[in-house]
Amino acid sequence: MINRHLSAALAASLCLVACSRATVPASASAGAAPQGLKDTFRSAFLVGAAIAPKQFEEQDVANAALVKREFNTISPENVLKWVVVHPQPDHYDFAPADKYVAFGERNGMFIVGHTLVWHSQVPGWVFQDAQGQPLTRDALLARMKDHIQTVVGRYKGRIKGWDVVNEALNEDGTLRQTPWMRIIGPDYIAKAFQFAHEADPAAELYYNDYNLDYAAKRNGAVRLVKSLLDQGIPVKAIGSQEHLKLTTPTAAEVDSSIRAFAALGVKVNMTELDIDLLPQATRNSADVSLRAGPAPSLNPYAAGLPDSLQRKLARRYQDLFRVYMANQEAIDRITFWGVSDGDSWLNGWPVPGRTSYPLLFDRQLGKKPAYDAVAAVAKEPRVVP
Ligand code: XIL
Repeated sequence: MINRHLSAALAASLCLVACSRATVPASASAGAAPQGLKDTFRSAFLVGAAIAPKQFEEQDVANAALVKREFNTISPENVLKWVVVHPQPDHYDFAPADKYVAFGERNGMFIVGHTLVWHSQVPGWVFQDAQGQPLTRDALLARMKDHIQTVVGRYKGRIKGWDVVNEALNEDGTLRQTPWMRIIGPDYIAKAFQFAHEADPAAELYYNDYNLDYAAKRNGAVRLVKSLLDQGIPVKAIGSQEHLKLTTPTAAEVDSSIRAFAALGVKVNMTELDIDLLPQATRNSADVSLRAGPAPSLNPYAAGLPDSLQRKLARRYQDLFRVYMANQEAIDRITFWGVSDGDSWLNGWPVPGRTSYPLLFDRQLGKKPAYDAVAAVAKEPRVVP
């Protein structure tokens, strides 16, 4: 056993940049000159973005073209959330999600589903009976099963991986008191994975959350996923959202979480990467229900981002990508939450109407200094942890 571990460690240390991922779509242009981030990082991991109708319906042709040039995986920013895809008890609206999936297939991309069970962007009726009374455990489980079977079943074999449960943890690592938890109990998480696995046994299943780089919540995720694995539930990866700030969490904390999750035997995906440079308006969280402002002091760069901050953002992204590259055996995918700064949810959350700069492409879809800083990491000699 020890020898096996030693030889695995040796093999890993000999695995320089050439170690390849099996998950890269076959249609990608192998051997061609690097075109985008997907090519730059082809030997390490998939690179993607969350997209909206603007891109997948090609309403914004230039933005859609950028997605095709740069990315080989996509996530749906909103169209597969319960409130959009299943707005009323007897009504599913698959029209937007169908277009999202078709875009991914046309372009040979690894298509992600987000998200099946979450306490946000879910209609109130989900938790109530026809009289407006709270559902029983059994009735809510039946409703959850119907939703998961219908949505996962529709895209069976086409959506390759699902965020099954999103944001089930508190900051201290305990389970969050959501309606799912209150009505069903803690096993709602295992049930959701079980229903998703039944609906598409080949789909990768993920647990997804934010602030997983901080120790208490990291440890909670380790406990949660370990208990799922112990029950025989096939969790393929932990999705670390990575809604980060300029200096927090530290690169060392990010590294620690990747290692702690990989030690469970699951992959680690960076699923919603962005770096918020604006003044913090609420507690350190990515909880979509938080609101603050507006106030001019909370929107200091409406006229443009100072060069000094542009450079800091580039360095921060570079530091993070060094950690991702060093841990590439553990990572299947890095997904940005949005394409260009103009598309980012951080222009509207938690303060409406701000001008945010969290991504690699500017409002004119040009590459920011952070883009080049990230791409440069792929050319550096591999640092083996
Ligand atoms: C955000 C979307 O980007 C917004 O358009 C929407 O209004 C709210 O949700 N964590 C998640 C994502 O898992 O689904 C959230 O997306 C951002 C935080």
